[in-house]
Amino acid sequence: MRWLCLRAMDSGMDKSRIEIYRVSPGGRLSGRLRVPGDKSISHRAIMLGALAEGVTRASGFLEGEDCLATLNAFRAMGVRIEGPEHGQVTVHGVGLHGLMPPSAPLYLGNSGTSMRLLAGLMAGQRFNVEMNGDTSLTKRPMKRVTVPLARMGAQIEASTAGTPPLRITGGQGLHGIDYAMPVASAQVKSALLLAGLYAQGRTCVSEPAPTRDHTERMLAGFGYRVERNGHTVCLQGGGRLRAANIDVPADISSAAFFMAGAAIAPGSDLVLEHVGVNPTRTGVINILREMGASIEILNPREMGGEPVADIRVRSAPLHGIRIPQDQVPLAIDEFPALFIAAACAEGETILSGAEELRVKESDRIQVMADGLTMMGIDAKPTPDGIVIRGGRLGGGRIDSHGDHRIAMAFALAALRATSEIIIEDCANVRTSFPNFLELAHGAGLGVIQEGGIDNNN
Ligand code: S3P
Repeated sequence: MRWLCLRAMDSGMDKSRIEIYRVSPGGRLSGRLRVPGDKSISHRAIMLGALAEGVTRASGFLEGEDCLATLNAFRAMGVRIEGPEHGQVTVHGVGLHGLMPPSAPLYLGNSGTSMRLLAGLMAGQRFNVEMNGDTSLTKRPMKRVTVPLARMGAQIEASTAGTPPLRITGGQGLHGIDYAMPVASAQVKSALLLAGLYAQGRTCVSEPAPTRDHTERMLAGFGYRVERNGHTVCLQGGGRLRAANIDVPADISSAAFFMAGAAIAPGSDLVLEHVGVNPTRTGVINILREMGASIEILNPREMGGEPVADIRVRSAPLHGIRIPQDQVPLAIDEFPALFIAAACAEGETILSGAEELRVKESDRIQVMADGLTMMGIDAKPTPDGIVIRGGRLGGGRIDSHGDHRIAMAFALAALRATSEIIIEDCANVRTSFPNFLELAHGAGLGVIQEGGIDNNN
């Protein structure tokens, strides 16, 4: 029964090609809006809530398909979870050793975060698990987690290409390692720390550049001791997690589309409310400001261990820049939106050191370059980045390749286009931003959806 239900989600994804956005050219963004909850924090709220002792209540939870995939995975492992209802979720924690073997493979849809973090967590269980996902997820690299997890003693089988499905044989008895990550990845760091909860001794992960630290912050919030020393984070296995309440801030990665949109559309003045401004996530603000954007951080505050603020963006003339290398991991999900800003800027914007973009939900360098070129912009992909010369954006048909962030970025590009933009393959916007159309429309974007499955969008 459960298996049938999970497969139904998959077939929902298959309808994605017929879901299209039609966006009228021009307009401006104004008013106040709150985008949905942070995806990274929502995943972790379910995971740590499930492993904690006691009841965890999360508000502001992202009811997008990715986080629901995580939620369903824990339900399938016997965790009682109430909601989500208007962003409220109640997780009845079972403790670190209380998960039950699922009766079928865990289906994780489009969600790389679920797959990689769960790879670490499942490696520490006593039972076997298989995890799979949609066509995009089954192409994504998993060796970055399976190789260091194997060094901890995990037994994980992937395809010969190192992609899902992953088959994890439980009961291995893990031991801590010191691991220097070759790529700056919060998912890899988090997978190893979650496995480290089950390992004998200390697990230490060093990152080549700072990456989002939500796992470390939330572990600390659940009473687990985590030590940070420069670029290295360590924890000792064998502790316990105590339930905690979580206020999930609005996702800066979703806010980014509106930040870029308000920056490029003349006459815009928009306030994005209650946005998570953790310094490991604010590259998009730093980069847009360096390009000349007018961005004010209002009412900065701290909620449940995460910095939060309202962000006011007004339109301003942008100019091209060489994007600083140290900002790349801090803006890794925001490049589709930033490329649209670059296409509307005076002069050239150069990005390098961002080869990671080629292995996201799509090859974001190539797919963005193709879309921008189609719109008449000079956009040249390089192996690890792109060079974009700002210019006049024409309209036309864009293939988002089922990548939620590509679809939303091109929707906002219409604000500066000379004619209508039609974006194909948009159903996966629901993975991270289920009410995108409603909010975008309310803020002033002339966007409608055609075809596909109705999801109250
Ligand atoms: C995430 C980490 C990032 C990011 C992804 C979410 C996380 O991936 O792109 O959307 O929640 O840890 P990498 O760790 O691959 O950079």
